[in-house]
Amino acid sequence: MKITVVGAGGNVGSTAALTIAQRDFAKEVVMVDLERKDGDKTLYPSKGRALDQWQTAPIHNFDTKLTGTSEYGPTEGSDICIITAGVPRKPGMSRDDLLQINADIVKKVTHQLLEKSPEAIIIVVSNPLDLMTYISYKESGLPIEKVMGMAGILDTARYKAFLAEELECSPKDIQAQLLGGHGDTMVPLPRYTTVSGIPVTQLIGKSKLDEIIERTKVGGGELVGLMGTSAWYAPGAAAAQMAEAIALDQNRIFPCSTYLTGQYGLNDLCIGVPVKLGHGGIKEIIEIDMDSDEKKLMDESAGHIQKGLEDLKRILAE
Ligand code: LAC
Repeated sequence: MKITVVGAGGNVGSTAALTIAQRDFAKEVVMVDLERKDGDKTLYPSKGRALDQWQTAPIHNFDTKLTGTSEYGPTEGSDICIITAGVPRKPGMSRDDLLQINADIVKKVTHQLLEKSPEAIIIVVSNPLDLMTYISYKESGLPIEKVMGMAGILDTARYKAFLAEELECSPKDIQAQLLGGHGDTMVPLPRYTTVSGIPVTQLIGKSKLDEIIERTKVGGGELVGLMGTSAWYAPGAAAAQMAEAIALDQNRIFPCSTYLTGQYGLNDLCIGVPVKLGHGGIKEIIEIDMDSDEKKLMDESAGHIQKGLEDLKRILAE
């Protein structure tokens, strides 16, 4: 199993690479990023990070070989490619503000990856996530099951972490589903949230649960406010978990951004829904029952993505 991470000179990409290596399921991880100029010096951030991380192998006890490069040649024959390239948010920015610059980057990277690895599965992490997944899917010409976006695992992880803190229980015992776009219109579903099988609504009052849901929706923004740039530990770990499920054919059910063709009454957009991940990528898109309030939130989230798609199509046509 060979995995390429693009944007790995940055925080999200290098965290994904290191998490993959620590889990030790891949033979090699190739970390790609641009060279940077620093005065008259040339810096190679992905080579530096790869070397530093590879030197943790004797400490963490993994075999996965990490290498860094600023070229696509060494990515040849990758089974899975993770795209984290692009600019992150700064305080005051929404994910949508990144659209123009990241659309060009994701489009270019998709082509460069597929030139060397035409059979690869692509996991998109760049923001605005659902739009970047759409552009990568459309540009790749790959089947739907091979191009997906990472957001739902991250957003549910935040939701579960907040719940575990409030309930003073293990985060491992919380099961949850969260649908919709990776933005403030995401749709956490309390009806599908349990703690070791116990409906969460039996363990927590409505106003506290609503507070946690609202905090989850702006969870990325909370971190931008604290750090001056967007988060990386949970986003990187979430992308690694998707790669692991595919590599080990785990048939894990995760919310992921995928291209819909009529499921949930939605067409021609990428949005977060539960999928089964294993060999080959998305084995199944799962349609869960939604009541009218939940469906309304899902439609609002889809409407937000559709509006972004109009902007995206205009940008691409320019
Ligand atoms: C976040 C970014 C990665 O939610 O979208 O932290």
